[in-house]
Amino acid sequence: MDRPARRPPRPRRRRLRLLAGAVVLLACIALVGVMLLEARSLRVNRVTFRSADLPPAFDGLRVAFVSDIHYGSFVSRRRVRATVDRVNALHPDLIVLGGDYIYRKQSASDIEFVFDELARLRAPLGVYGVLGNHDHALLEVNVAPVMAAAGVKELYDDGVWLRRDGSRLRLSGLSGVAEDRQTVAQALDDATAEDFVLLVDHSPDVAESLGGAPVDLLLAGHTHGGQVTAFGLWAPFVPSRYGQKYRVGLVTDGPVPVFVTTGVGTIVLPLRFFARPEVVLLTLRRG
Ligand SMILES: [Fe+2]
Repeated sequence: MDRPARRPPRPRRRRLRLLAGAVVLLACIALVGVMLLEARSLRVNRVTFRSADLPPAFDGLRVAFVSDIHYGSFVSRRRVRATVDRVNALHPDLIVLGGDYIYRKQSASDIEFVFDELARLRAPLGVYGVLGNHDHALLEVNVAPVMAAAGVKELYDDGVWLRRDGSRLRLSGLSGVAEDRQTVAQALDDATAEDFVLLVDHSPDVAESLGGAPVDLLLAGHTHGGQVTAFGLWAPFVPSRYGQKYRVGLVTDGPVPVFVTTGVGTIVLPLRFFARPEVVLLTLRRG
């Protein structure tokens, strides 16, 4: 008759359980370490966008796009300075800022600290910026003069015509306050479907209301690429009414093409996972 298998003595099972617990704990610590390191990194994301509307004079135009700096709790002034140095080293033709310069309103001077650094940005065609939802909380400080003093032209439901060799390119920005056709029309001026129009809004959601508008590319931030994601495939929290659709990168299945950057800073926690902080170097190509 077979005798039942002997169970391991209790101390041995306890040791195995302790070992398993230690492995899980170490894995968690390592994971948090990886997420902390990722949040402190900064890459240059080089993107090429092609359009038949781009005038030959602007073929090869290099646009640096920087969003969601979130100076404050988790982003030091040193990191803002390093970001500016990184952008200037790319020697872009044009620099566009996507808003959310601060995190929380710790003091009225926060926005001034950021723009003291951003004032060093250099591009022959200029530096332009829109406001983000975190900046709107500071409107009583009146951000526009701070931006202007730093040499950054604020695009508040407004835009500029950039001109080269008799051709024109429209750069417009939205305030994000109202998503209506009249605001967009005001920002686009007399742009037609034949013009190349680059529109900037802090949030990508406005794309869904741009059907029929002569916008060739919308630049946006706000989502942080999900900030903490499941290996870049899905994120549990995306601040968008359209779920994962506008989480990150080039989105071409909406009313207009949209490029969504992961941005530079973080909110809530200084952590990122498979949503690396970035500055974008966008090269526009004709064709
Ligand atoms: Fe943000």
